[in-house]
Amino acid sequence: MKVEVLRIGHRSVRDDRITTHAALVSRAFGSDKIYMTEVDNSIKETLGEIAKRWGGKYDFAIEIIEDWRRVVKNWKKEGGKVVLLTMYGINIDDTISQVQKKNKVLVIIGAEKVPRETYDLADYNVAIGNQPHSEIAALAIFLDRIFSGKQLKKDFSGAKLKIIPMGKGKMVKEIDNNNSNI
Ligand SMILES: C[S@@+](CC[C@H](N)C(=O)[O-])C[C@H]1O[C@@H](n2cnc3c(N)ncnc32)[C@H](O)[C@@H]1O
Repeated sequence: MKVEVLRIGHRSVRDDRITTHAALVSRAFGSDKIYMTEVDNSIKETLGEIAKRWGGKYDFAIEIIEDWRRVVKNWKKEGGKVVLLTMYGINIDDTISQVQKKNKVLVIIGAEKVPRETYDLADYNVAIGNQPHSEIAALAIFLDRIFSGKQLKKDFSGAKLKIIPMGKGKMVKEIDNNNSNI
């Protein structure tokens, strides 16, 4: 299943960290790409540095866009479905099984209130509960549910560093990509 994220909006300075986290969570929780509006190129550099160290250079992309409506329109034209994460939607427990059957899903999150028309453009308005919280929390839970948790074991190819999971302590191995893995 191909899952991409569209984040609408960005409040300069105030949202800087949150915007980075939206991209990091999209990457780490299994989506293939995030489209972002109103951000500058530094987000690409930040994620590029992460990919250099932790892998997945070709598994995840960021595209900075001007016209999010065009992205949604093209997505639908190609047969993809659109999910808007919103506290006003239907609870995820009651929608996720339908969404999981789709091949292509574009997940929309807002930095703040999203334009009214997104509610109508979306095929599914999905709520992670009906209380207001955060787009990062909403996105993480949505991606976790859509992939049934399997994305957390995803291997990111071409990493320079690899964590050796431990119950106690901390171990990181450097990988020589010119020779064998690890
Ligand atoms: C700061 S919130 C904005 C909350 C605002 N009251 C609204 O109109 O949705 C930013 C984003 O977080 C996401 N979000 C917040 N709470 C949510 C919830 N309970 N379920 C799903 N998404 C949520 C939505 O994508 C929203 O656009």
